Amino acid sequence: MPGAARTVVRRACIARKLRRIMSLELCAPVPSRISPKNPDLQRVLDLCPSTPALLLDPAVVEADFRDFSDAFAGTRIFYAIKANPHPEILKRLFALGCGFEVSSVGELRMLQALGIPGDRIISSNPVKTEEFVREAAAHGVGHFAFDSAAEVEKLARHAPGTAVSVRLTVPNEGSDWPLDKKYGVEDAQAVDLLAAARERGLRPAGITFHVGSQNRNANGWRVALEKTRVVWEMAERRGLRLTLLNVGGGMPVEYNIPNVPDAHAVARAIFDARKRLFPSGVETWLEPGRALVGRAGVMVCTVIGVAERDGERWVYLDAGIFHGLAEAMGGITYRALTQAKGPVTPCTLAGPSCDSVDTISKEFPLPPVRVGDRVALVACGAYTTAYSSVFNGFPGPEAVIAEGALI
Ligand SMILES: Cc1ncc(COP(=O)(O)O)c(C=O)c1O
Repeated sequence: MPGAARTVVRRACIARKLRRIMSLELCAPVPSRISPKNPDLQRVLDLCPSTPALLLDPAVVEADFRDFSDAFAGTRIFYAIKANPHPEILKRLFALGCGFEVSSVGELRMLQALGIPGDRIISSNPVKTEEFVREAAAHGVGHFAFDSAAEVEKLARHAPGTAVSVRLTVPNEGSDWPLDKKYGVEDAQAVDLLAAARERGLRPAGITFHVGSQNRNANGWRVALEKTRVVWEMAERRGLRLTLLNVGGGMPVEYNIPNVPDAHAVARAIFDARKRLFPSGVETWLEPGRALVGRAGVMVCTVIGVAERDGERWVYLDAGIFHGLAEAMGGITYRALTQAKGPVTPCTLAGPSCDSVDTISKEFPLPPVRVGDRVALVACGAYTTAYSSVFNGFPGPEAVIAEGALI
């Protein structure tokens, strides 16, 4: 081909590419800059040729951990690995000096496989298996939470002399995924349990709570600390010298609802209350799960079906409630990006399995997508792959690690 013709072909090719990029129609407003909130959709799709997939960017985890460390200077951060235990995330956080919160033998062994020592690990699951307590203590895990007399016995037998914190019930107002229906005790019982732990040779260290996951109200931590203060004083009157406040997890990620408090806003609420209510020098721990990994993942799905039922538009994806999107049942609403064109209208969005529960949303805004189109869900790094099953033979999302892809 002569040089001039080659130039014309190259120009046509570039123009085609530009047209394609400019015609990308997003459900969300066109991003002003590339970030985990507004990722480069074409890049995400190129990195995930088969679906469902969860594109994970450890660089975003690192940035968010650094932001947390900065906001919560002087505290110890233990990543609740249940949110996403992918080894690349664990390795990155370990290298950055982060600690880890685990609940089970399975989670403990994931950390052991990476050579993570016991002094970087705690367990705040109030009800643990005996096997787990034994293995964790043997590995050097030196701190456990509890909220029952049976657990005091278990810990005294399998982790004698260890440090413990009692889990207090606190309001979960503002949380989109509350955790107050299962664990925790009220004031007087909390003090009785701390005293019982001391009698059985354990070391009562402090009080822990969880304000509920995805808590969009920073004030929730203030309210919880005020309640903690009452119990702290009651414990002091019983001669218990507590030194540790574990303010749990619950820090939110921005899904569809804007203006969630960031790490700095939550830290301000906690530090202000701590200064007002507790003696200086009280040690503070936190256990974020969602907030350290949520922004680092984009879930890529394929539209496998569309249908019209009673005038309602249904869109079926190759991943649903049983394949990573379980939190939609509790009200977490994801934001979608797609290349499909046309007006964005609400549809019923469902997963691939034959179960009616497998309905992600009754009012999901999407343009007129067709079978084969891709839909990318933003901020899906937490509680997606971790919750996923192969129900009905449909595989859950495969993790794709891509350093820097979302920054
Ligand atoms: C004991 C404990 N700590 C921390 C977390 C992490 O919570 P989040 O992901 O809301 O930060 C959880 C979540 O269930 C938990 O149960």
